[in-house]
Amino acid sequence: MHKDLKKILVDEKKIEDICLKLASKINQDYKGKKPIIIGVLKGCQPFMSDLLKKLDLDCELDYIVCSSYVGASSSGFVELKKDVQLSVKERDVILIEDIVDTGRTLKMLEEIFKTRHVKSFEVVVLFDKKAARIADFNPKYVGMEIGNDFIVGYGLDYNENYRNLPYVGILKENIY
Ligand code: IMP
Ligand code: MG
Repeated sequence: MHKDLKKILVDEKKIEDICLKLASKINQDYKGKKPIIIGVLKGCQPFMSDLLKKLDLDCELDYIVCSSYVGASSSGFVELKKDVQLSVKERDVILIEDIVDTGRTLKMLEEIFKTRHVKSFEVVVLFDKKAARIADFNPKYVGMEIGNDFIVGYGLDYNENYRNLPYVGILKENIY
């Protein structure tokens, strides 16, 4: 275990099981369809690549980069730093994100994609911090519900660190 971690929350085996379960649901729901799968960089990266390898579907891939600014008030603003290259009009879009916390990021992304006349829009998250939700957004596909701890690893970062860990752990409080 990395020295900055208090404990491992989800090990590699559990991550593998979660990806298998999510992929089997997505395979059923999108049978015969050809979705565009869009990753929200950078956190989506290991999760998206593991999930993709389990999808038995024809699909196209794209990526977005966004950063969220949250002011003192309860309203958040998400800026798209890099947009998709493919046209999403009349397409089934599946967005892949590492974690939903307040829900502001995904709510804003849903609004942006709906203005683009997608055929459908669904979100897959590896983790859901349900108790922290502020925006009215609940993803259709959730790998695992977790508590309010700050977690890192498997794509998730603290100041850009720890994304490469193959497991997900809880950071020691003295690190942040
Ligand atoms: P939301 O807009 O509050 O739902 O924030 C979602 C974003 O916050 C995620 O995409 C992550 O980048 C980041 N985030 C939220 N909780 C954590 C955490 O526990 N560890 C690392 N990043 C997190
Ligand atoms: Mg993120």
